[in-house]
Amino acid sequence: AVERTLSIIKPDAVAKNVVGQIIARFENAGLQVVAAKMVHLSQEQAEGFYAEHKERPFFGDLVAFMTSGPVVVQVLEGENAILTNRDLMGATNPKEAAEGTIRRDFAESIDANAVHGSDSAASAEREVAYFFNADEICPRG
Ligand code: CMP
Repeated sequence: AVERTLSIIKPDAVAKNVVGQIIARFENAGLQVVAAKMVHLSQEQAEGFYAEHKERPFFGDLVAFMTSGPVVVQVLEGENAILTNRDLMGATNPKEAAEGTIRRDFAESIDANAVHGSDSAASAEREVAYFFNADEICPRG
């Protein structure tokens, strides 16, 4: 089925100037960017986005990293978009990410891991709505 998923190109990848190379991987896999913006997240925005991780030991470092510089937030649309994007990203820890994945090629550590992608249909719905109003999403048919 055609799905939408939320993708974030994280501060490390923006700083490395590989935004275009990462988006090309989405496009080459048949996903379309149907919404996009660059934003420097506030502490409140980052904490709210990652609220499900609030009790995890890495929460403070995660929020600090995600607010350390601008990110590019996108909605990707396509057949099986959620899983397709997760396959393109590779494992959360770049050291465990398969060859040819975004994290293997562009990421340094489990914190600075280049990209975020929604992990389920329920998260995708919440995460897309967290960053975009309905009128900011431009399906291209
Ligand atoms: P992301 O997909 O953005 O979701 C939560 C982030 O927390 C994850 O990517 C990692 O960058 C970061 N993180 C740091 N430590 C861990 C860990 N031990 N397990 C999972 N995620 C972690």
